[in-house]
Amino acid sequence: MSVRYTDVTAMLWLPFEAQRALTASLKQRLGGELGALDLRRFPDGEALVRLGSEVRDRDVALVVSLDHPDDKLLPLLFAAATARELGARSVGLVAPYLAYLRQDRRFHPGEAISARLFARVLARPLDWLVTVEPHLHRIHDLSQIYPIPAIAVHAAPALADWVASNVPRPLLIGPDEESGPWVEAVAARAAAPWVVGRKTRTGDRRVAVELPDNIARYTDVMPVLIDDVISTGRTLAMTARALVAAGLPAPVVAAVHGLFTPDALPAMREAGITKIATCNSMLHETATIDVAPLLADAIRSLAQHPGQAGGSATQKMAPRGSPA
Ligand code: R5P
Repeated sequence: MSVRYTDVTAMLWLPFEAQRALTASLKQRLGGELGALDLRRFPDGEALVRLGSEVRDRDVALVVSLDHPDDKLLPLLFAAATARELGARSVGLVAPYLAYLRQDRRFHPGEAISARLFARVLARPLDWLVTVEPHLHRIHDLSQIYPIPAIAVHAAPALADWVASNVPRPLLIGPDEESGPWVEAVAARAAAPWVVGRKTRTGDRRVAVELPDNIARYTDVMPVLIDDVISTGRTLAMTARALVAAGLPAPVVAAVHGLFTPDALPAMREAGITKIATCNSMLHETATIDVAPLLADAIRSLAQHPGQAGGSATQKMAPRGSPA
């Protein structure tokens, strides 16, 4: 069986508007050509997608962060399917933020397990996927739900480097036990102590966070809250309040994906948080941590060693319709 892998140095990059700057940085690191993907909405909300670059016999990478996934999924599927119809050799997706992973089980009877369903739909027209710090909890590896080679880039090194160069005497705090393993990874690289709290969520905006009893023994430190996603901001706001109540200074925040509902920043600021840094996986005023170098390494390694990604890697990197 002959398999043609993605030639990353000749990649045609097709970003959605919000990811143009990040994509330009990927192109600068990896090579290829920055193409045009136009998305227009008709007055009734339907989407018209247009590929403004020739895709025939090209390896194509679509780039879009999947916050507000219900709005973006159809245009993305249209773009991927159109690239295929017009003769693209392979079509991959760089989704710096990958949606729907938090709903990874049926928490209440009758609920959809969105993580699995979304993966099944998204993967259909794609050959590969690269994302940053997906919220993997009960699903341990993207290959459990994505039937294509899929790499999860760990943002811990980028967060750790930001902490090391911006926060003197940091104490890293994860708001819940889930965050433990990767708060530990950030702490190891930043050479900082760390603790995790215990979170109880009783509603979208109703969160309680308890910190370990011995938190007050950390004196002369600057607390840094570490989380993978900021949505309503309540998790971090309540963690900040618990810290201040325990006699520590109001914390700074270093998080990966800043989704930020409109009320998130006010809630965090009201809780005393003044400095917030997120990754440029999402376009936002707080996005000062650059994940482009980590993403570029992952995309390069997927092209060179597709068998190391999750799923049936080698099979799926073959162009669709090529001889088996
Ligand atoms: C949850 O499991 C995640 O790690 C985040 O803690 C959560 O998504 C944050 O949500 P919010 O900002 O709405 O509290």
